[in-house]
Parts: sequence; structure tokens; C-alpha cells
Amino acid sequence: DDEELHRRIREAKATLGEKLVILGHFYQRDEVVQHADFIGDSFQLANAALTRPEAEAIVFCGVHFMAETADILSTAEQKVILPNLAAGCSMADMADEDSVETAWEEIAEVYGFDPENPQPDEDGKLPVIPVTYMNSSAALKAFCGQRGGIVCTSSNATTVLEWAYERAHRVLFFPDQHLGRNTAKAMGIPLEQMPMWNPRQPLGGNSAEDLQEAKVLLWHGFCSVHKRFTVEQIDKARQEHPGVKVIVHPECPMPVVDAADEAGSTDAIRKFVEASQPEDVIAVGTEINMVNRLAAEYPDRTIFCLDPVICPCSTMYRIHPGYLAWVLEDLVAGEVSNQITVPERIATPAKIALDRMLAAKP
Ligand code: 13P
Ligand code: SF4
Repeated sequence: DDEELHRRIREAKATLGEKLVILGHFYQRDEVVQHADFIGDSFQLANAALTRPEAEAIVFCGVHFMAETADILSTAEQKVILPNLAAGCSMADMADEDSVETAWEEIAEVYGFDPENPQPDEDGKLPVIPVTYMNSSAALKAFCGQRGGIVCTSSNATTVLEWAYERAHRVLFFPDQHLGRNTAKAMGIPLEQMPMWNPRQPLGGNSAEDLQEAKVLLWHGFCSVHKRFTVEQIDKARQEHPGVKVIVHPECPMPVVDAADEAGSTDAIRKFVEASQPEDVIAVGTEINMVNRLAAEYPDRTIFCLDPVICPCSTMYRIHPGYLAWVLEDLVAGEVSNQITVPERIATPAKIALDRMLAAKP
């Protein structure tokens, strides 16, 4: 039963001691979060992997791209373990390496540069810089690292786009169209200069002429959890709870972000709730496990999810305490199960793009 599982996890943790660190994303279920040594958003978790060199094993309770990033940023000796290898991210899967390569070649033709070796023009700027959201495969981070590009997370997307516009006229942003659009809009870029890039169509479904004016090319990806949030839900929350404060994740569609009072990463959402007052009513547009945990932590406030239908991230949910117990007990027995290893040829250029992100300061 569950109690038995928790006892086994605690026992294995105690045996492994300093050799182990368990990282958990905010979207993990409570049964898993209770065992994490550190909980954070995807940027904080990347930093956590970077700053725990004493741990021999990093057990990552999150999704595949996060564990890959932890492997790239941790030392060569450290082992990163994903308790369930089927914990992926459907958004990350929406941009594959081949489609991005093809798009890049088409883009190079439109703007007249060498796709392998883009050169700055007389303004000292590149025609396009590729920016990948953290929610992408290590191969795409490597793609960015090799072409002057960079990684961003939901907590630093503005800083990263500013970094990119200091160096280039345009950005190719993948996979999340919504984070790209919401961030570019907040920076004052008009919607007409944000064409969508649909990888199933030639030139992403655009004319070469339209693309001349573009400032950001938005890949056709989205998060199936966050695209469920609607303006109607926000209107209803405001009607039913006058004075309600609405905060959503920037993976929500633009009209939802516009109708909310605030948008921010999972940690920004946590901080928003932390800074609220007793009796406040807060409606949140993000994954349900996180919203329910905040509601339980702050019982003197009314905190609820905008979507009345329970909306967990089904892949985050694949990390079950049973898998956690299994990988930990294997470690105790001297075996490493479910290790995530990014091959050197991908890890090295991917780290370049990640290091640019870590060095970009607001
Ligand atoms: P954060 O970077 O805000 O933690 O978001 C990660 C994620 O996958 C949101 O869906
Ligand atoms: Fe991916 Fe969406 Fe789940 Fe985040 S919430 S891990 S973007 S599917």
C-alpha cells in the first residue's frame, strides 16, 4: 500500500544520504513532492542540478527534457535518473530536429544566409537567432547552441528575447507559440510581425514577402494542459468572486494572459500566492496538482483552478511513488536504473545554449 511505499522511499533515502538528491517540479503529485529535497520551476531545477556536485545521483521527478538538462549541467560523474522513462512532454514532442532543420534551411533561403554559418550584416546583427523553450529535446538545444541561439524558460523569456534582439533582427521561437507570442507582445512587438510557422507547410504557411517584416517566427506548438484555459473561465471567476485575482502561466493562449491580472512561471505563481493576504481569492491557470497544493498551504485564502475539469499534466503524473521507490532501492543495491544520458556530441553544443541563458541577466 501507499504507506509501505513511502516507508521504503524514506528508508532508501536515509541509506543513500548525501549521495542522493531528489529534485521535483511543482506539477508533481504530493505523494512525490513530499520526498523531494528541492522543488522548483524548470529554471530553478536546472540551477539545482548545477549546484549539487556532491550528489552522486540526481533523481529527477519531472519530465524527460528536464532530466536531460540536468544531465547536461551536472558533472560527468553524476547520474541523472528519471523514475519513469515514459514521462515526456507533448509540447516538447511538437518540435523534432528534422522539422526544425528543414525550417531553418527555408528561413535561410528567405533571408539570404548560409544555414550552417550565418553572418552578421553591416548593423552587426544576424538575420535570425533560434530560441528554444526549455521544453524541448536536448538535440534542439544543441541546434541552438551551434547557430548562435539560446534556451529560455517561462521565468526568463523576456530577458532571453532581449538578449536575442541585441544580436539579431529576428527570432525563430520553438516549440511553444503561446509563450513566444505572450512574451513578444509584452515587449511591444505587433502581432502582424509574429507569423506562425507550421512545419507541415512550405515556408511554415507564409509567403516570403510576409516574412520580411517578421520579428518572431512562432513554431506551431502548444501545451495541451494550458490551452484549456479560456477567457470565459476568467469572466466567470470575476463574476462569482468580485475582487478575485487571476494569475496564469504564460503557456496559456494570449487572450487568457491578457484577461488575467498576472502571468508567470510556476515559481512566479507560487510567489504571487505567498505575497497575497488572508481572505484573498485567487484563481490560477495552471496544472491542478500545483494549484491544489497552494490551496492546502494557504487555507485562509480561497485558491482555485480556473478550469473546473481536473487538468493534471498526464506525463508529469507518470512519476508514481512506486517508480521512485524502485529507482532508489536499485541505487541502494548499487544499480542505476532509468538513467538519462545525453551523448557528448549533443550535450556539448546544448550546454553552450544553456550557458548563454544562465549568463543572460535581466
Ligand atoms: P515552469 O518553467 O514555469 O516550471 O514551466 C514548466 C512547464 O512545463 C510548464 O508547463
Ligand atoms: Fe509539457 Fe504542458 Fe506538461 Fe508542462 S504542463 S510538462 S508543457 S505537457
